[in-house]
Amino acid sequence: MSISPEGKNKTALITGASAGIGKALAEVFAENGFNVVLVARRLEKLQEVAATLERRYSVTATCISADLAKATAPKKLYEEITAKNIVIDVLVNNAGYAINEAFTETSWKQHQDFINVMMLSLTQLCYLFSKDMKSRGYGRIINVSSVAAFAPEWGGSLYGAVKSYVKHFSEALDLELKPHNVYCMALCPGFTFSEFHDVMGVRGAVSKLPKWMWMDARTVAEQGYKAVMRGEVTYITGVVNKTMVTAFELLPRKVKYLISEKQNFL
Ligand SMILES: NC(=O)c1ccc[n+]([C@@H]2O[C@H](COP(=O)([O-])OP(=O)(O)OC[C@H]3O[C@@H](n4cnc5c(N)ncnc54)[C@H](OP(=O)(O)O)[C@@H]3O)[C@@H](O)[C@H]2O)c1
Repeated sequence: MSISPEGKNKTALITGASAGIGKALAEVFAENGFNVVLVARRLEKLQEVAATLERRYSVTATCISADLAKATAPKKLYEEITAKNIVIDVLVNNAGYAINEAFTETSWKQHQDFINVMMLSLTQLCYLFSKDMKSRGYGRIINVSSVAAFAPEWGGSLYGAVKSYVKHFSEALDLELKPHNVYCMALCPGFTFSEFHDVMGVRGAVSKLPKWMWMDARTVAEQGYKAVMRGEVTYITGVVNKTMVTAFELLPRKVKYLISEKQNFL
């Protein structure tokens, strides 16, 4: 990948940077000259990523361990970064997971944590950092959504609902902030190799899917980086995913619901 050092004297904050797409995004931003602030729960993993990025790209990588399921985490994170005198030019809300259990058989605590990570923390981090970006006249925000924001529902799951929220919210925020040179984009990957399906406990089932349905995290990150820098608003990674989303959007609502009733591959 040959890209110019757009990130000189700029800093990107990436949540969920200890693995998968977030780790790959951290590498792409560092490669483009951005200092990085890496956030996730597993501090040791973050420190490994940080050491690699500092060595390879001569950037500064700061690690902050935070559990974004905690309602107090976004504000605490903002205050910690401000206290370190770090100015955030790019915010990547990437941390996430999916729950593979029926809605009624999942505890309320699990649902609450999920909503906190996937929606509340993402929204509050946008709120806290975008105000500063707006006043400085520069900012780039990537909110990681999914093709699930467009796909037929998957019985009882909150996943499609939260990713749909992320897509709509990102578009709305972009409309408000673009005149101030702050771009906000929903990045919508499809099946991507990462720890996601292991955490979800469905590696066996998804490994039966054909290879052409999958992308690697590095490619997703490269495409996401280029897309936000050129001001895309909703970006679907890869030709296969773009084609699938186009097909989903053409489907009448009732047909989509019927597909939801039939789909049971996990
Ligand atoms: N992989 C796919 O097929 C796919 C497709 C579409 C969209 N996505 C989306 O892409 C994003 C990244 O997923 P991925 O595929 O890269 O999964 P991954 O490899 O499992 O990485 C998830 C990241 O989120 C962090 N995280 C999870 N819960 C957290 C919490 N409570 N607090 C802070 N950090 C937390 C994890 O770090 P710690 O465990 O260290 O906290 C990890 O760094 C997610 O939003 C996911 O929904 C993934």
